[in-house]
Amino acid sequence: MEQYAIKGGNPLVGEVEIGGAKNAALPIIAASVMTDETVHIDNMPDVRDTNVLLDAMQEIGVLVKREGRHKATINAAQINSLVVDGDNIRKIRASYYFIGALLAKYKNVEVALPGGCDIGCRAIDQHIKGFRALGAEVKIEYGLIKAHATQLKGSHIYMDVVSVGATINVMMAASMAEGKTIIENAAKEPHVVDLANFLNSMGANIKGAGTDVIRIKGVPTLHGTDYAIIPDQIEAGTFMFAAAVTKGDVTVKNVIPKHLESITAKLLEIGCEIEESDDAVRVVAAKPLKSTQVKTLPYPGFPTDMQPQITVALALSGGTSIVTESIFENRFRYVDELTRMGANIKVEGNTAIVDGVEKYTGARINAPDLRAGAALVMAALAAEGTSLIESIHYIERGYEDFHLKLQSLGAQIEKVDSERDYKKFKLKTG
Ligand code: UD1
Repeated sequence: MEQYAIKGGNPLVGEVEIGGAKNAALPIIAASVMTDETVHIDNMPDVRDTNVLLDAMQEIGVLVKREGRHKATINAAQINSLVVDGDNIRKIRASYYFIGALLAKYKNVEVALPGGCDIGCRAIDQHIKGFRALGAEVKIEYGLIKAHATQLKGSHIYMDVVSVGATINVMMAASMAEGKTIIENAAKEPHVVDLANFLNSMGANIKGAGTDVIRIKGVPTLHGTDYAIIPDQIEAGTFMFAAAVTKGDVTVKNVIPKHLESITAKLLEIGCEIEESDDAVRVVAAKPLKSTQVKTLPYPGFPTDMQPQITVALALSGGTSIVTESIFENRFRYVDELTRMGANIKVEGNTAIVDGVEKYTGARINAPDLRAGAALVMAALAAEGTSLIESIHYIERGYEDFHLKLQSLGAQIEKVDSERDYKKFKLKTG
């Protein structure tokens, strides 16, 4: 199993190009099956989750042609199965986007129940409620979600919780239902808007994405399109906080600064300087970090997917910070690992009380999930001494070339897959 060997202590300095958003790419890839015509997708991140989804599509007969690392041409005219149940698909959360997409087009689908990061209970009741409101029969049997409808009919749906996944899934199904659908209390994340733009570019009629009321007029068919995915808000935010943690100076390029507002606001609060241009944000961490309070919230609030990264920064600040996790209840599992690096954090329920320490020290640590894994890499980059991060497959689910991008900013990080390699790395880096 590959690991990251990291020698900490170098401030990250330079420019880094941010890739396409994983969480936009996943529904967009799944939604490509909603037309018989060819769909061209650009700015697709080359990460494990998107590749698993593309493979799963090929297993049901969808033609997928890679054109370079970030482009794919998809044609779903010849689907030969409406059962998506491969070994890999069970491991990723986004498998459930096939329900909305295939139900919309074929009114019938069976998909393996979703896996994904273990960050808390990840209910799907709102997805099911939405599909049922559109007239589908939905049942869970033998590890599969089965959805079937003779006809999908527009409906007025109130989401009990703000859910990215449920909003996306219901939006897909409703875009080919007969009549009008209104989704209230919808998620407003940039990737919800990106999927709506993608579907509209295929002939759907979706209005209001990005607000909490989405209005959809169903259309009978969708056509092909040529679409570029938005930049990844969370990848950008991770590099921005990596600059803060390592006292560096990093410019994230190819970003939409508006999507990063809650992140830049917190970086300013903890004492970083920010320079924004049209499609780049520079973070300079010249002064000692200050403590603050943060609560994760649906967009435009501070993203739960950035909670471990900000905590890693706050744990090095002067003072006591409070971090409240309001989206997923199991998202502080990395704190034990961070404590082994010297952090002083007490978790009580969904709150972490973070007493800043002067430094981290290197250790052997385990990445418990995707974003926490990236945050622990950041801690190791700031730490005195060498660290070994295990279970990096989690990190590779969502970050393309993470170690190479960090290297280009001056980090001493390498992939190793044996104790011998790790020893060599330690000798080389002193
Ligand atoms: C997506 C993102 C994930 C991010 C999360 C919140 C993808 C592939 N993943 O996950 O990275 O952390 O949004 O921004 O885009 N809930 C219910 N019932 C449901 C659905 C959700 O109670 O039917 C609850 C969840 O338990 C959670 C909250 O709603 O507490 C938000 O979940 P949701 O927005 O659905 O997250 P995902 O779409 O799974």
